[in-house]
Amino acid sequence: MANILVIHGPNLNLLGTREPEVYGADTLASINQSLAQMAEQNGARVQTYQSNKEGDIVSCIQQAGEKDIQFIIINPAAYTHTSVAIRDAFLATRIPFIEVHLSNIYAREEFRTQSYLSDLAVGVISGFGKNSYLLAFEAAIIHCNQSSNQETE
Ligand code: DQA
Repeated sequence: MANILVIHGPNLNLLGTREPEVYGADTLASINQSLAQMAEQNGARVQTYQSNKEGDIVSCIQQAGEKDIQFIIINPAAYTHTSVAIRDAFLATRIPFIEVHLSNIYAREEFRTQSYLSDLAVGVISGFGKNSYLLAFEAAIIHCNQSSNQETE
């Protein structure tokens, strides 16, 4: 069974009221609920985590390595553009991940086009609002199923 962790970075707890013209009207609770439904429909497990603190996100990635998490979906939010520590946590644990963004970071300010994670990610999904997470979840399930098929071959 695919075991997937979804990490939401800083300020994403404010979704719904935070710049809805950029990030949409969906709340974090509704995104998490849709992910849980998708997991149930696909026979997968999902856990979600949100933090406004860089170190807590680093610890969460480190602990995922000890908890049998097969795949991570992360919206690092502003830490996308600043965090060597989150990059190093992925390098250390080697857990495959998809980087997601609600907005299209390539169509915004120049500084948002830089990511400390993209080159390590299996892929990046940016610009589809709540659906960025759902598309990433679908891709994560496919990735996990392919990996477990390869292990049994
Ligand atoms: C974001 C894009 C980031 O640049 C920004 O700092 C966020 C959200 C997105 O989902 O579009 O907080 O990651």
